[in-house]
Amino acid sequence: MTEPARIGIVTVSDRASRGEYEDKGGPAIEEELSSILLSDWEAVTVVIPDEQKLIADTLIDLCDNEGCCLVLTTGGTGPAARDVTPEATEQVCGKMMPGFAELMRSESLKVVPTAILSRQVAGIRGKSLIINLPGNPPAIHDCLLAVFPAVPYCIDLLEGPWLETDEAYCKAFRPKHAKKKP
Ligand code: MTE
Repeated sequence: MTEPARIGIVTVSDRASRGEYEDKGGPAIEEELSSILLSDWEAVTVVIPDEQKLIADTLIDLCDNEGCCLVLTTGGTGPAARDVTPEATEQVCGKMMPGFAELMRSESLKVVPTAILSRQVAGIRGKSLIINLPGNPPAIHDCLLAVFPAVPYCIDLLEGPWLETDEAYCKAFRPKHAKKKP
């Protein structure tokens, strides 16, 4: 039996972390992943305030200690003073993956003009892929569905677990020469 893939889900929100506001982003990501993935996975969820050092330390912990092959953040990508999720992500990544954010913004712009306000980024830390998503659940759906087809092959290239998607909902892209299902 192979171990389930561990996926970090980080809600970045001052109000949700203080309990003043129900966390809607984290559960929305879990629900979206449940629709996308057929292979076994388990969520490692965290809710933290918009503090750059805390976000960076949390991302490091999820990648280096918790063994998450994929870490999805939600919130804190906008232009407001407390929005620092992209800065924390860049701080901990060895490589940035600009194509993910380019695609998320361009697909989102087809739906809402405010998509231009998200400074979301994606990058690699060690063997983990980190992707920033905006805070609101419809944005999570739009953005995750736009980029997820590229996620399984990216994780393959990082020597991570085999991720199988439900092709009827989200068809993953793997080139013909890519390694086959183990
Ligand atoms: N992208 C999509 N697909 N749908 C949305 O509703 N909201 C935008 C943008 N991207 C949105 C979106 C808005 S209003 C903002 S301010 C930014 O994401 C940043 O959101 P965040 O600070 O919650 O990360």
